[in-house]
Amino acid sequence: MELHILEHRLKIASIARESLPLFTHGLVKLAFLTDRTRCKFFSLTETPDDFTLIVDEEGFKELPVSERLTVEDATWLALNVVSGGGHSPNSPAVGVTKIAKSVIAPLADHNVSVFMYSTYQTDFILVRERDLPVVMHALSTEFAIFREIDGEVVALDDTVIVNGFVKPKSVSRPVIHPLTCPVNQFCVTSLDPTTLPLITTLLMDIMFYSGSGKDSTADSADRELIKFFSFSLIEGYISLVMDTRTLQRFPNNLLFTSASGEVWRMVRIGGQPLGFDECGIVAQISEPLANADISAYYISTFKFDHALVPEEDIQSVVSMLQLTPADNR
Ligand code: ARG
Repeated sequence: MELHILEHRLKIASIARESLPLFTHGLVKLAFLTDRTRCKFFSLTETPDDFTLIVDEEGFKELPVSERLTVEDATWLALNVVSGGGHSPNSPAVGVTKIAKSVIAPLADHNVSVFMYSTYQTDFILVRERDLPVVMHALSTEFAIFREIDGEVVALDDTVIVNGFVKPKSVSRPVIHPLTCPVNQFCVTSLDPTTLPLITTLLMDIMFYSGSGKDSTADSADRELIKFFSFSLIEGYISLVMDTRTLQRFPNNLLFTSASGEVWRMVRIGGQPLGFDECGIVAQISEPLANADISAYYISTFKFDHALVPEEDIQSVVSMLQLTPADNR
């Protein structure tokens, strides 16, 4: 299997809901006016807590310098597994389930903190640039490692990998953060970028004005619904994660949905903000899912993590991860 270390140098940032107007000029450019920017990696995820932005250095320059943008200090690199058909051939599972044992567990064993971003197309594993030597050591037995340098894909000779790391022994990983399970049903979808102009006004409404007016989920009847929407434009590919209520606002036949019309449910991880240094959170969730062959998308945001699992598996996932009914509200 091949692991690619992508060229994008990424920043992870948080915008408070009330500060969003300060940044919309830049965000509109990054999401919709791609001819005007050299940004190649842009993602914006709205949660009840904030808007989480993952953006490359080129894209970051489009945003005003402001203390209203909370930026994680490090520069992050995106790893991507290019599946050469090498993963467990008898499992149809998709998403982080495929890479739980080969990538996520070894990184957790080596105390590497990750930040996950799953899209319709693939799963990006973000690691801090300074952790790259450990990352390469942790993954070199499973993967041929390639690095994108100036647009070229270069094979990394594993003799350059520093030796002397102690081989960590695999440990069992109980889930340590509280989990919640909002009632929304989610879709993971995409569209042909050439049709983006057809839905730009709708996307602007959803992405930048959802807090105002009619679709606000603040009313008490909607307490168990979570506000969650993720848009990304990465190397020309668009991915959207939204709940089925929001999906209904889109014109028919524009978004790609799989033939099976899969619907996903969310497990939200974290009581207090998770921070960026703790390791093993993604592993605690994705390893049991991999053992049970349950597909999952996984989206980390500035404060919390979010796993999406097939609707039909939510009950077993919930009991497997030992979510007690009392936490489930
Ligand atoms: N660093 C965690 C891990 O290695 C995942 C990210 C949690 N933090 C966050 N801000 N979402 O498993």
